[in-house]
Amino acid sequence: MNIKVRYLSKLGHTKLIAEAIALGANTKAVSILEEEKLEGHTDVLFLGGAPYANIMDKKLRIYANNLTKDLVSKVVLFTTSNFSKRTVNSLKKMLKEKGITVVDEYFYASAFRISARVDAAKEFGKKYSL
Ligand SMILES: Cc1cc2nc3c(=O)[nH]c(=O)nc-3n(C[C@H](O)[C@H](O)[C@H](O)COP(=O)(O)O)c2cc1C
Repeated sequence: MNIKVRYLSKLGHTKLIAEAIALGANTKAVSILEEEKLEGHTDVLFLGGAPYANIMDKKLRIYANNLTKDLVSKVVLFTTSNFSKRTVNSLKKMLKEKGITVVDEYFYASAFRISARVDAAKEFGKKYSL
């Protein structure tokens, strides 16, 4: 299976969670700032980002908009924030509207306890990569 973890992280919280998910999924986490478009077909794409003033970063929105159901078989979302789940909810809606399969469950970590969620993120990565 071709499994990828992609994220956008400004403060480093989502990056830590992305790296833990990648560890569990036996792959590597890559920032969308380093790789602007998903290359080749992906079976499972873990995709994460955070809200800033209640909206996701424009680059993450563009990245998600460029995804197609031919490129990705399944998307698994994750997010970190102070409290808002808006980024994952918007991503879920946007991707589903494009006909892309999105797993209902997503991984959430509060920005106030990122380190405490690292092990759970690793398990989450393992769970959806089997
Ligand atoms: C400018 C700014 C605006 C933010 N706005 C929100 C917000 O509207 N709702 C929320 O729950 N968290 C908000 N946060 C908290 C971030 O979403 C949170 O720290 C998140 O973990 C950052 O992810 P990152 O470290 O991957 O960039 C904001 C943080 C910053 C710096």
